[in-house]
Amino acid sequence: MSEKDIFVLGIETSCDETAAAIVKNGREIVANVVASQMESHQRFGGVVPEIASRHHVEQITLVLEETMKQANMDVSEIDAIAVTEGPGLVGALLIGVNAAKALAFAHRIPLVGVHHIAGHIYANQLVQDMKFPLLALVVSGGHTELIYMKEHGVFEVIGETRDDAAGEAYDKVARALQLPYPGGPHIDRLAKQGKPTIDLPRAWLEEGSYDFSFSGLKSAVINTLHNAKQRGETILPEDMAASFQTSVVEVLVGKTIQAAAHYDVKQILLAGGVAANEGLRTQLQKQVEQLPEVELVIPPLSLCTDNAAMIAAAGTVLFQQGKRATMALNANPSLLL
Ligand code: KG4
Ligand code: ZN
Repeated sequence: MSEKDIFVLGIETSCDETAAAIVKNGREIVANVVASQMESHQRFGGVVPEIASRHHVEQITLVLEETMKQANMDVSEIDAIAVTEGPGLVGALLIGVNAAKALAFAHRIPLVGVHHIAGHIYANQLVQDMKFPLLALVVSGGHTELIYMKEHGVFEVIGETRDDAAGEAYDKVARALQLPYPGGPHIDRLAKQGKPTIDLPRAWLEEGSYDFSFSGLKSAVINTLHNAKQRGETILPEDMAASFQTSVVEVLVGKTIQAAAHYDVKQILLAGGVAANEGLRTQLQKQVEQLPEVELVIPPLSLCTDNAAMIAAAGTVLFQQGKRATMALNANPSLLL
């Protein structure tokens, strides 16, 4: 059986990266371009939506041109265009959605809308074939979710954060420690030099719940730093980083392992920017050994953070399932999975 190769162009503009990519058969990256705006947001200590939109407008055409050039392909060779329709910043999403619609309309190419988190999960498909049932832990600046998948394209959110996302907690704690934005990598680095000597809470929540909560932990860090300052005591930032990271990782890994055992999954996938965290990777690798039947997949860093290859990979599955978006496709900042 020889089927024709499918080339999908992915477009992602939900937050602060303008990205486009071409993926072959949902598995092979042909071109992958990401224009980051990190530097523009750094001095504000977080992503400024208006600035993000403006950058996307400036970058989108260049990023698309660069992608076609990298792939050495013509738009006429593209079988489908997959674009992030949500969730994310509405003004940012709109730039990608409109670019995708314009291209699809002008060249009569089928259009598919993709959920950003589905994209993060399908980044794994670019590394290894998915084996069902599987469990995905999605941890980023905007998301902390445990997702159970019985088959392609079917997502069941079995746990999510009730307040801050894991990456958001990292960034806020980093700010309290006067570290630059985004703070996650800085805390990760400091944590390796310190000892987890400070007593901080772990939000296990009710028995059997796979939900998360990080705002209590974040407040505990801020209060501990504040109280120490008032008493004239010094807390080593590396010890605080190590203590905070231990608390976050213990809960993330603990709940993931519990859920993987409960749902009897074949694979655990890690996704999102916080998947870069060394403490999380190491602990997850160690604890998965308790479940010898379960395979752990962690994509390379460039596919963990926001990119369009993951959107093209997820879009390919939807395209093959016959899903199509019309020219009425709109950005949906609070789209459900
Ligand atoms: O997936 P991502 O690039 O963007 C969103 O969709 O949010 O994730 C960015 C988040 C930021 O909060 C950043 O601090 C965090 O990922 N992050 C890390 C690490 N590297 C990035 N958090 C902890 N440890 C890291 N090494
Ligand atoms: Zn993301």
